Amino acid sequence: MSGLGKKTVEDIEVKGKRCIVRCDFNVPVKDGVITDDKRIREALKTVKYLKENGAKIILCSHMGRPKGEFNMKYSLAPVAERISELMGCEVVMAKDVIGEDAKAKAAALKDGDILLLENLRFHKEEEKNAPEFAKELASFADIYVNDAFGTAHRAHASTAGIADYLPAVCGYLIQKEIDIMGKALNDPARPFVAILGGAKVSDKIGVIENLIDKVDSLVIGGGMAYTFLKAKGYNIGTSLLEEDKIELAKSLMEKAATKNVNLLLPIDTAINDKFENTDNFSVVDADKMPDGFMGLDIGPKSVELFSETIKNAETVVWNGPMGVFEFEAFAAGTKAIAKAVAESGAISIIGGGDSAAAVEQLGYADKMTHISTGGGASLEFLEGLELPGIAALNDK
Ligand code: 3PG
Repeated sequence: MSGLGKKTVEDIEVKGKRCIVRCDFNVPVKDGVITDDKRIREALKTVKYLKENGAKIILCSHMGRPKGEFNMKYSLAPVAERISELMGCEVVMAKDVIGEDAKAKAAALKDGDILLLENLRFHKEEEKNAPEFAKELASFADIYVNDAFGTAHRAHASTAGIADYLPAVCGYLIQKEIDIMGKALNDPARPFVAILGGAKVSDKIGVIENLIDKVDSLVIGGGMAYTFLKAKGYNIGTSLLEEDKIELAKSLMEKAATKNVNLLLPIDTAINDKFENTDNFSVVDADKMPDGFMGLDIGPKSVELFSETIKNAETVVWNGPMGVFEFEAFAAGTKAIAKAVAESGAISIIGGGDSAAAVEQLGYADKMTHISTGGGASLEFLEGLELPGIAALNDK
């Protein structure tokens, strides 16, 4: 069941059919070793369904940004190996994307076999959404399945263009992401609390504007909070500031007040005189920032204030860390908020990218209801934008 309104793999006969499945296997790889395979594991439900139902499976994805050239640093070969380990079956790796090797291997597939094409972005036509490239990809298959939620905000040949040439349905991961985040946006259990952090206000304007009409409380932390504190007239020392967003911050605070949204900003902050880790940092009240210092994390009083609101929430959406959590000294705020969200008992939805990395790194991943596999995609979804990779699919 899906509230998505788009056809899914279950709405189409896949037995004996060649299914080209767009996944987001853009996973971190260090020295040829995958360091986080969440996106791969999350894609397996669809792959298993297709295998069990006798489809011939042709997986495809991008990895990194190889700028339209073959560059084996960005090969998907480690991904083929990992899928094979996780599925306990052979996954054939093509040496190219739409070349002779891929064609021959696709033609040799039997029902239930799995082939992975090389990195789609080895061809510049992929990101340009070039029709001839989309058509060439489509010629491999009878059915197009999109399960690449993490890339659904890109209108590329394999995420959008290809749907012009084949019956186009979504997989289970896209359904899951949209169902959970869609429910939070459209029919949330209340109180609904959004926690937004990260470095820049400019990255989150769309999300704040969309969420301010929906939430009961809006918690703002991270680097972006200092522009709001400046807008309140506080001295923020050398903290991150987007001068050109001060007026916007003011108007967002006014809008929140008009709509009776409880907008919470940090009331204290952990500071340092440089952008670096230290054993020796201080915490000051947000309106007592000394000159020459920058705020790098929320302080304990803010943690208490934010946690009190989070404790009573029934739905929490969190996007963006509370401080520079990569520095041990300034991870406390993000860690405490992760703990508060985990212990709240609320439906907890964590945006991908930095927030997902923070929650994983701090050990709270298994306590959350949903951690999105999309960074940019989940942000655009929370902004209320239409994702091209989903818009392109066939309606129910
Ligand atoms: C991501 O990691 O956000 C997706 O895989 C999309 O990658 P891109 O930002 O390079 O398009």
